[in-house]
Amino acid sequence: MCERVPLADIAAAEGTPLYVYSAALIAARYRAIDDAFRAYPHAVHYALKANSTLGIARLLRSLGAGADANSGGEIDVALRAGFIPEQIVFTGVGKTPAELAQAIDLGVKTINAESEGELERIDLLARERGTRARVALRVNPDIDARSHPHISTGLKTNKFGIALDAVRELARRFSRSEGVEIVGLHIHVGSQITNLDPLRHAAQAIVTLAQELRDGGVAIDHLDLGGGLGVSYDGSAVPTAADYAAALLPIVKESGLSIILEPGRHIVAPAGALVTRVVDVKNRPDGNVFVVVDAGMTELLRPMLYSAFHRIEPVDPGGGDEIVADIVGPLCETSDTLGKDRRLPRPRPGDLLAVLDAGAYGAVMASNYNRRTMPAEVLVDGATWAVIRRRQTIDDLLALET
Ligand code: LLP
Repeated sequence: MCERVPLADIAAAEGTPLYVYSAALIAARYRAIDDAFRAYPHAVHYALKANSTLGIARLLRSLGAGADANSGGEIDVALRAGFIPEQIVFTGVGKTPAELAQAIDLGVKTINAESEGELERIDLLARERGTRARVALRVNPDIDARSHPHISTGLKTNKFGIALDAVRELARRFSRSEGVEIVGLHIHVGSQITNLDPLRHAAQAIVTLAQELRDGGVAIDHLDLGGGLGVSYDGSAVPTAADYAAALLPIVKESGLSIILEPGRHIVAPAGALVTRVVDVKNRPDGNVFVVVDAGMTELLRPMLYSAFHRIEPVDPGGGDEIVADIVGPLCETSDTLGKDRRLPRPRPGDLLAVLDAGAYGAVMASNYNRRTMPAEVLVDGATWAVIRRRQTIDDLLALET
């Protein structure tokens, strides 16, 4: 079930592979973060990169979230979802001049600048327009997020942000510029963080820096603490939104500055499942079994890209003998494996499996490899459900080609 709707009913109507999301769970998880920070001036800017399907973005806007956009495309989606420019922060390591101009013309809340070169480009573009852009400096604190190396961003060897030493000088220099108004500091050290220490250290680093800037005559108005709070993919205990707030608030209170948070995964990951149908069940010579399903790395890249673990459960547990199986997709890649050595009742072709906690970085990272079309996405609300993205067709795909 998703809320009060059987997944089998949705799969029968819309086909598979299929993403199904719970509106109630997204709302509950958004509110848990917002409530945890209630006692302190804060704004929750949902990181659209985790899942930016319009129906999800609109839901979060209706709950009171702002948006964190990482590209011109995500800014466009935010606007179409009803966010106003003042509710959008714009982040990203390679913003093109066209994207910067788009953000400046709209007057977004803040552009999080990643380098000296980017500050120069923003300054020039803003002066050409006779305006001043609100900018936060993204700091690279050289902190290890202790997450997967592919999703750690706060080490000096990572491409993100401005080294601590350089930030002070740049803040002073650009606070006198005509095109840039330095209004904040930004930090984001990684994603799927389940040990709060790196987040504490990151917060302490920018609180200290904010004080130094203030002493040096650069007055900022906010600290953007980024996203990164992890979720439990295997059922083990992880920090809650309340733990997260309890870790960060004592540190940021010292500064007296309002804060921005950019959570993505924590809000949407557990609220989504990838529903897939078993195509084949093959016995392996070693006694193990391959369960071949109709979803693979094209629908959910995380297992292949980060060796990420997602629980995979039968939609109807049935009564088959328990087997140990590799759940594999249909693509022509050996690494197209959703789960290895999983115990489950022996399924039959046609049975449905649900890949859990796939609401974040699932549908958004889907691809058309092997000319596979993008899956449909459904949002469930109580006993009702709606398609928020129809399944792509081969005609949709070929419409772009001559
Ligand atoms: N803010 C910034 C500047 C970010 O780079 C990110 C994520 C977030 C916020 C949101 O982080 P979250 O709260 O979702 O951890 N595709 C990977 C995750 C990449 C995260 C990139 N940045 C995965 O599937 O694990």
